[in-house]
Amino acid sequence: MFSQDLPSFWSAWVAVITLGVIFGCLWLIYVVRRSEPYKEETEHTMGHEFDGIAEYDNPLPRWWYMKFLLTIVFGLGYLALYPGLGNFQGLLGWTSTGQYETEIATAEQQYAPIFAAFRDQSVDELIADPSAMEVAGRLFSNNCAVCHGSAGQGAYGFPNLTDADWLYGGSAEKISETLHNGRLANMPAWLTILGDQGIEETAHYVVSLSGRAHDQTLATAGQVHYATYCAACHMPDGTGNQLLGAPNLTDDVWLYKAPNLTIHESVKLTLRNGRQGVMPSQARLGDDKIHLLTAYVRRLAESGSAQ
Ligand code: HEC
Ligand code: HEC
Repeated sequence: MFSQDLPSFWSAWVAVITLGVIFGCLWLIYVVRRSEPYKEETEHTMGHEFDGIAEYDNPLPRWWYMKFLLTIVFGLGYLALYPGLGNFQGLLGWTSTGQYETEIATAEQQYAPIFAAFRDQSVDELIADPSAMEVAGRLFSNNCAVCHGSAGQGAYGFPNLTDADWLYGGSAEKISETLHNGRLANMPAWLTILGDQGIEETAHYVVSLSGRAHDQTLATAGQVHYATYCAACHMPDGTGNQLLGAPNLTDDVWLYKAPNLTIHESVKLTLRNGRQGVMPSQARLGDDKIHLLTAYVRRLAESGSAQ
């Protein structure tokens, strides 16, 4: 239960004011009703008049008076049963968190068999099963699309899941590992080490790895920096390392191609500031849903690379 108790002074403050106001109202309507001028209906008016309309100075109709009383009884009953008076939890023990948890538990109980039915199927069987893929597609929309795009196509900083290029590996085991544990990439920032000139040179070398236009002199200087600082993670030939999530720099797939910058400028930005991509762990979804999603990501990759 999530309850943040008030300090006892403020708890008492809330309770006293709340009850004070309720009993104050009760006292007020009682006293007014009992007071002499309101004992019975009269022809007296309040003494003011607007456009020929005057206001009688009469007691409240009885039904109205009773409604006031009922409201007060209801209020007191409510405050006795539910939380409302400072730290008093109410006699029913109801909490919004408790209600939420009960509803979630009911939903889990209701839907768990649906996901469990897919548990014993292999990833390949799931991919071939349209009803499994339909359920998985909804899980993807709810949990993944916000970052990876509704079709898994990715975006700036969020990997495309429909291609054959993987930061951490595209086997069912690796995808499942990504989903269970999450991933945290660490590409250090290089500006203080390389300086502007060094960044420029290294960027020329990096784009040369994928056969892009580059300045040969700068790239040759950059190659030295690369061998010193980058090869350990991105490998000497630039093909990357899936254990670290260090991307392959020799292909045409860029995680950090900024929409408004060229690839050369984007690479420079990455080198200057570093990058720390975070894929949050999906463990809260549970094994069955992760199993389904693993199959779904495999299918995205297969359908994408088949094009
Ligand atoms: C400690 C390991 C490590 C070192 C050293 C390292 N990188 Fe990286 N690099 C990474 C990781 C991990 C990523 C992915 C970052 C992410 O996903 O947020 C990355 C991303 C990149 C990218 C972005 C690729 C893309 O697809 O947008 C470029 C370019 C890059 N590194 C170049 C370099 C260069 C050049 C050096 C040397 C100056 C270097 N890296 C040194 C680990 C490293
Ligand atoms: C908050 C944003 C976010 C959400 C939500 C999210 N991801 Fe990711 N995901 C990322 C980022 C960012 C990376 C890349 C991490 C990095 O830079 O190394 C990633 C990486 C991955 C990878 C590894 C890709 C590779 O090339 O190895 C897979 C697979 C993946 N996500 C699948 C999913 C699935 C399935 C879901 C839904 C259950 C999901 N992600 C939800 C942000 C997200």
